[in-house]
Amino acid sequence: MSRVATVFAAAVVLAAVTAIPSAQAQRGDDRRASQRLVLNVGHRGASGYAPEHTLPAYDLALRLGADYIEQDLQQTSDGTLVVLHDEALDRTARGPAENCRGPVRTKTLAQIKTCDVGSWFNERYPEHARREYEGLEIPTLREVFQRYRRRPNYYIETKSPALADRMEERLLALMDEFDLRRPAAGRWQVLIQSFAPESLKKVSALDRRLPLVQLYAGERTSAAVRATLEVARTYAIGVGPSKGSVDRALVDAAHERCLVVHPYTVNEKAEMRSLVGLGVDGMFTNFPDRLDEVLGRGAVGGTSAADRAARARRACRAG
Ligand code: G3P
Ligand code: CA
Repeated sequence: MSRVATVFAAAVVLAAVTAIPSAQAQRGDDRRASQRLVLNVGHRGASGYAPEHTLPAYDLALRLGADYIEQDLQQTSDGTLVVLHDEALDRTARGPAENCRGPVRTKTLAQIKTCDVGSWFNERYPEHARREYEGLEIPTLREVFQRYRRRPNYYIETKSPALADRMEERLLALMDEFDLRRPAAGRWQVLIQSFAPESLKKVSALDRRLPLVQLYAGERTSAAVRATLEVARTYAIGVGPSKGSVDRALVDAAHERCLVVHPYTVNEKAEMRSLVGLGVDGMFTNFPDRLDEVLGRGAVGGTSAADRAARARRACRAG
């Protein structure tokens, strides 16, 4: 491992050791100090157990040990940010066809709110089906912030931002409304991710303090991702490659530049262990409990894991 990468790893451990003052927390930190800090991101919530991007999926992710809950943003025709993975409603929404089929950007919020995004899950995954999932609504980002406030960490993705008028400005305005901008900048309470560099650069131009993560599509090899890192470091704090793109060379090259590495979407314990062994700094998973078990950590530590990660990155940049 190079000197800078070593400094980054050491900064992670130092931040873990010095973060929490109580004796009980200190014992926990002592136990973790020998490990790297690896952030547990509930991908679309605990979407392996509950319908993706619903409030029950987020509740469960936090109960199962996620340090972050992920939101994918789409925007309605009347300019509301809603949380849904796909550009189109068809895969996960049930309801009147005129409201619940086709692209989100062609529907009003009132139309979107007539759709049920729980029933598909019960049909597709009967082993996890629950009656209360029937009729679940697509949440707005405002509703997510209203429910959780400043308790969890959010990992928010701008989806199809080129097709959504002022998506980034609307996101920052909502963060301001819930007083999330300062803790986002200071202790990574909100990480903003996108496959679109233009969207991240726009956020950076609006507020260069905000922590941004550049995502890469699955077909990008380790070498292809590495080739972008010099540019990515100018606006991002980290990169989010597909798990198949991650090797030691990529992790070291990112750490050389004080960039964290958060692969997606990692659902099996064997691949979690392998990625931890390669030195990644976090990962997206549909099963936060599995990652929690692999990492050997207790229940979610509120915002402390993100705070430690932010401080480790600052130490790396300063060193
Ligand atoms: O944002 C990380 C990961 O979620 C990217 O893939 O398609 O699930 O948004 P996707
Ligand atoms: Ca995503």
